[in-house]
Amino acid sequence: MQLMLNKVFLCVFSVCLLFVTAETSCNRSKSLRSARVRKVMEENEIVPDVLDVTPTHLLEVKYGDDEVNLGNELTPTQVKDPPTYINYPFEANDFYTLCMTDPDAPSRQNPKFREWHHWLVVNIPGKDICKGEVLSDYIGSAPPKGTGLHRYVFVVYKQPECLNPTEKQLTNTSGKHRGNFKIRDFAAKYDLGDPWAGNFYQAEWDEYVPKLYEQLSN
Ligand SMILES: *[C@@H]1O[C@H](CO)[C@@H](O)[C@H](O)[C@H]1NC(C)=O
Ligand SMILES: *[C@@H]1O[C@H](CO)[C@@H](O)[C@H](O)[C@H]1NC(C)=O
Repeated sequence: MQLMLNKVFLCVFSVCLLFVTAETSCNRSKSLRSARVRKVMEENEIVPDVLDVTPTHLLEVKYGDDEVNLGNELTPTQVKDPPTYINYPFEANDFYTLCMTDPDAPSRQNPKFREWHHWLVVNIPGKDICKGEVLSDYIGSAPPKGTGLHRYVFVVYKQPECLNPTEKQLTNTSGKHRGNFKIRDFAAKYDLGDPWAGNFYQAEWDEYVPKLYEQLSN
């Protein structure tokens, strides 16, 4: 009897230990990840050029097989269509705001139009981007020739409530009203708090850019 109890105890004990170990290592990888997000965003001056603080979570963004990964380089051709996959921790009953913005317009050396925003969607229920309210249609990267790498920053905010935006809607057929935008000002205006999730890639001119300029001059 004693022996059996010992065995049961040992078994329960090991299972508990297994859970605790799994939880600890999961916590550790989470905090390592946030530490990496913070380090890379600060090294690349996303904080403070675009954001005051590092987003809490890493935002997953994919263009087909091409992944946005903390400053990796993608081409305008690779990002000409909206991302095919976006993921972040969410609550189904909350609304979120998603933005993609370029602080390096027309160049990182002389960012006089900082920021030129490429995409702005509010009132996204959970992570159902398609059900959100598009304020600015998606426009891919279009860095002018000879202006080097631009940073393209994705940021998601968790909204305190459903928004009633006053901004006018911008289509993907014109570049008007895209420049001199500040996502931090937009976030402050609607009380969105600190950035919830973020990521960024970098891109420079390629032969797709002239096609995009044509699209924007319609
Ligand atoms: C893991 O993190 C959660 C909250 O983030 C906390 O409640 C839990 O105690 C942590 N577990 C360990 C083993 O540190
Ligand atoms: C422009 O946006 C519309 C939706 O508003 C979309 O149907 C269309 O494919 C987009 N065009 C380009 C060239 O991205």
